[in-house]
Amino acid sequence: MIATTVNPFLEGNFAQIGDEITADALILIGQLPPDLCGMFVRNGPNPQFPPIGQYHWFDGDGMLHGVQFSNGQAQYRNRYVRTEGFKIEREAGHAIWSGLVEPSQTDNPNGSYKNTANTALVWHAGQFLALWEGGAPHAIKLPSLETAGLYTYNDKLVSAFTAHPKVDSVTGEMMFFGYSPFEPPYLHYGIVSASGELLRTVPIDLPIGVMMHDFAITEHYTIFMDLPLTFNPARLQRGEPLVMFEPERPSRFGIVPRHGDNSNIRWFESPACYVFHTLNAYEEGDEVVLIACRMGSTTVLVSEPTPGETDGDKARLYRWRLNLRTGSVREEALDSRPSDFPRVNEQQLGRATRYGYTARMAPDPMPLFDGLIKYDLSNGSSQTHEFGAGRYGGEAVFVPRPDTTVEDDGWLVTFVYDMNEETSELVVVNAQDITAEPVARVLIPQRVPYGFHGAWVSQEQIAKQVGTNKP
Ligand SMILES: [Fe+2]
Repeated sequence: MIATTVNPFLEGNFAQIGDEITADALILIGQLPPDLCGMFVRNGPNPQFPPIGQYHWFDGDGMLHGVQFSNGQAQYRNRYVRTEGFKIEREAGHAIWSGLVEPSQTDNPNGSYKNTANTALVWHAGQFLALWEGGAPHAIKLPSLETAGLYTYNDKLVSAFTAHPKVDSVTGEMMFFGYSPFEPPYLHYGIVSASGELLRTVPIDLPIGVMMHDFAITEHYTIFMDLPLTFNPARLQRGEPLVMFEPERPSRFGIVPRHGDNSNIRWFESPACYVFHTLNAYEEGDEVVLIACRMGSTTVLVSEPTPGETDGDKARLYRWRLNLRTGSVREEALDSRPSDFPRVNEQQLGRATRYGYTARMAPDPMPLFDGLIKYDLSNGSSQTHEFGAGRYGGEAVFVPRPDTTVEDDGWLVTFVYDMNEETSELVVVNAQDITAEPVARVLIPQRVPYGFHGAWVSQEQIAKQVGTNKP
């Protein structure tokens, strides 16, 4: 491990903030669309105490930043997810767990790792869940952002739970997986019914434990990505990082019928790569088409907290065509510009979409995003929304206009930080006119650190939230 005095993930707008506040009647520039009613919430790391050893961006305690819109007004609040680990450390008054690039704390009586709940959010079956891929979800109350507690589906959850479950808006089902870094089965695949019951979990065979951050669904299939970012405890003995990219291993894409299991999964191989995030997948004739942000390699989680600066670390939008009849794989780049945090109109998740949205990576060694790209996947064209000089955003969530059937009729919503003014705002961009100025900018009365994934929950959904005191 290399000792560093300055960790870039604890500086600038990556630095944590201390206060949890609630602020009403926020200052608006522009006009909030009157039918934008609901709450945008974004998750991200915000270490409660100075970290032990090296800090990685993935380590910080989950903090939620929410902006609720109603009657043309906006209200902001931010709250930590009060996980067990957060409460134990708060009681102690200092950090107890070290992070992912430090040796595992096998002697920690409260567990080797802290479930930080810091990565993403999902609304499903009346529950709003904060997610972390190494453990169980946490239920969150809306609009208060209070933590109700761990959510284990009446103890039916037998695996970890990905930060990127997939909700099929047609059937209402939610597909998820959990991976196990060290012990077979290295992968579990589960389905939660439209009413919120965990119906089934099946093991899927993998040759070795891999970091599997995301997956994809189509109308009939689920697609797993067995990519060569591997866990190997033996490396620690050799003084190497626990998690490493192995370029000599292939990428494997496993296609399983949605309600199938390991006996009917089919694997497709392609050259080594890494994918944090999928945009979407769909079926077309004999093919399953997967669109995702592909990196040629990755140095994430290898000892140094400074992010990789090789071009291979930059994600670019790619399309894979996996032919179920011939077994062939065709892989093609859709853009040469690096971008990540892909999103679609999730009402059409698993079906062919015409549009996809990503956050454009700035030419910077840090993961900074200087604009949004809207792809027209039908013809390969794209348009870009620029945040402006010295302004950086993150993942944009697509918010559909209520009662529309037009795929791109809605808004893209993301937090933007202005490094010149040292202020944060929420920008609302018309998805049908993304090169234009935002239709509304909501000024946030405190800095919102860069983070990971967000979700939109409509006012109608919030009203239907199921009592969150249940396990
Ligand atoms: Fe993610």
